[in-house]
Amino acid sequence: MTKSSLPKRIALGSDHAGFELKEWLKNLLTEKGYECLDFGTNNPKPCDYPDFSSAVAHAVASKECDTGIVICGTGIGSSIAANKVFGVRCALCWNEYTARMARSHNDANVLALGARVIGFELAWEIVKVWLETPFSEDERHKRRLEKISALEVLETEEAKAQC
Ligand code: RB5
Repeated sequence: MTKSSLPKRIALGSDHAGFELKEWLKNLLTEKGYECLDFGTNNPKPCDYPDFSSAVAHAVASKECDTGIVICGTGIGSSIAANKVFGVRCALCWNEYTARMARSHNDANVLALGARVIGFELAWEIVKVWLETPFSEDERHKRRLEKISALEVLETEEAKAQC
């Protein structure tokens, strides 16, 4: 995402532990004029974070959405699952600084939050920084991201060869 293409369409997903925070963020984001696509879960009953995290990741990888937010108890499981989807760079952020760096240096396209780790107000501050920070476009960061993409291709080919 460059300055001229800051996100407008946001994919959201959580497990039961992140459900309440997801609903709260969805309402705020909608109020602010963002278009939110909610991939569930739709109630606080125990469920499995990979199901919702991968749905968000696919929506971002396919460009159906400009960015995504995945939420579970710690944010760890959701971020691991999202990062299995080709083309996704999911970053677990716990303050404004990590959100700013994840966008500016890593051009991360999915944000993971830990609903049992941070409060709602901090989560909102993180989300605002995430949505307002463009990728720096610096050559050194582009080069590093190209290496991540090359690694992704290589690992996928190796995984296919093992089948
Ligand atoms: C659910 O209890 C919890 O394990 C999950 O929300 C998440 O924190 C996993 O990483």
